[in-house]
Amino acid sequence: MVPPVLYWKNNRLYILDQRVLPGAVMFLECTTADDVAVAIETLAVRGAPAIGIAAAFGVAMASRDGRTAALDASMRLVRTRPTAVNLFWALRRMEETMASLPDDGLFENLLAEAGMILADDLECNRAMGRAGAELLPPACTVITHCNAGALATGGHGTALGVIRSAREAGKDVKVFSCETRPVLQGARLTVWELLEDGFDVTLICDNMAGSLMKKGGIDAVIVGADRIAGNGDTANKIGTYPLAVLARHHGIPFYVAAPLTTIDPGLPSGREIPIEERKAEEVKRLPGGGMLPDDYTVWNPAFDVTDGDLISAVITEKGVLRPPYGPAISALFPKED
Ligand code: MRU
Repeated sequence: MVPPVLYWKNNRLYILDQRVLPGAVMFLECTTADDVAVAIETLAVRGAPAIGIAAAFGVAMASRDGRTAALDASMRLVRTRPTAVNLFWALRRMEETMASLPDDGLFENLLAEAGMILADDLECNRAMGRAGAELLPPACTVITHCNAGALATGGHGTALGVIRSAREAGKDVKVFSCETRPVLQGARLTVWELLEDGFDVTLICDNMAGSLMKKGGIDAVIVGADRIAGNGDTANKIGTYPLAVLARHHGIPFYVAAPLTTIDPGLPSGREIPIEERKAEEVKRLPGGGMLPDDYTVWNPAFDVTDGDLISAVITEKGVLRPPYGPAISALFPKED
């Protein structure tokens, strides 16, 4: 069984520490919004929907000290990671809810709101899973990248949610998981999560995907997303874009599974998506625990952008979007006059 990504108990937020998975299942005890912010920055909690959910609980926690403390917490949390739009969406939802609430019962109401963000995400993932499962053949083999599973969301997962739902619908799905350098979300988290649920999963290094596709037998690539621009360009974990190019070359469908909270309809294209650059240490750390030498430069972007025209379909809780994505996304987010 995959443990919950976080839970609230005895006035504390417990966050599953994904840095130590799969070696240990440990929860961080967060008592302040700053604890939550550090957990997001250090990837103890990661994945676009999950960081939004954690941040919402961080704001609720701070509201015990009043409205100003909650707004300060939101300002701290908004600076933790720049790419996944779910973080900003969740903080805006908490701030808007707060604006409509009296001081009396502020904390209890904001805690309930954070709980609703968590529950809504799980429900979206199940709907997305059902929609996406229909795209897969009865027996199939798919490639996924990074971790877009229960560990990255309120449960069930986005890309892995499609795989779970396909199995629930009676399909036989085998999975190849890219290791996902440099932080190894694929090797450490996706493989573990799928094994926990009894899936047939095979680990590959990122640079093996091309040979695997050429060999034949891959029916689809399914990934999650951190931000989808108004034209369908999609930011996801670094290494997603080359997979999409490879999939196009080999005639394999490339699917993105993401809730509407990952879509940023006002952003014209992927060029405007801010891409987080992380520390060199992540790249220089060797599997045996050592470090590469310190005296040269490392480029470590955490995400890349896949052009919308390389994406066969975007699977959402409102159904499957097909290109051209501009009109499909505009229809889901009608402009208010
Ligand atoms: O740096 P991470 O681990 O937060 O990156 C996560 C991803 O890129 C996921 O694929 C994405 O957030 C989708 S999660 C449902």
